[in-house]
Amino acid sequence: MNQDIKQIFYSHDEIVNKSIELAKCINRDYDGKFPIFIGLLKGCVPFLAELIKHITVPMEYDFMDVSSYEGTSSTGNIKIIKDLDIDICNRDIIIVEDIIDTGLTLHHIVNLLKSRKVSSIEIVTLLDKVEGRIIDTVKPKYIGFNVKKEFVVGFGLDYNQKYRNLPYIGILKEEIYK
Ligand code: IMP
Ligand code: MG
Repeated sequence: MNQDIKQIFYSHDEIVNKSIELAKCINRDYDGKFPIFIGLLKGCVPFLAELIKHITVPMEYDFMDVSSYEGTSSTGNIKIIKDLDIDICNRDIIIVEDIIDTGLTLHHIVNLLKSRKVSSIEIVTLLDKVEGRIIDTVKPKYIGFNVKKEFVVGFGLDYNQKYRNLPYIGILKEEIYK
């Protein structure tokens, strides 16, 4: 285990098994369709990579990069750093997130994508921090795990850009924040 980690919440095996479970639901719901998975950089990368291995319907994926966080608290500011390359008009969209906290990021993104005349939009998130929600317009259809209002890292989730590479999800030792 990485020396900065205090406790592991979800092991790599648990994350893989959950990704398989979520992919099965998506395969069932999108039978006969051709969805676009939209990953929100950078945190989505390990989860998107795992999830799509188990997707059996025809699909494509693209990325958007938005920023809303500095350190461990939301600034409430959403900035689009990289937009999509694909035209999403009349397409079925599945947004892939690492974690939903306040809901502000997805609220803005869902509104933006809806304005591009998509057929449908759903959200798949590896983690959901429901207690952190300050806007409840965002309803993820596919949720991996519910987490408490603690700051977690690993499997794409970072603290000041570090720890995204960890194959598990856990919390940091208190001294790391000093
Ligand atoms: P929000 O839902 O707009 O508050 O923002 C969600 C984004 O905040 C996620 O995509 C993460 O990048 C980041 N975030 C929220 N909670 C955590 C956490 O516990 N660890 C790491 N990043 C987090
Ligand atoms: Mg993110």
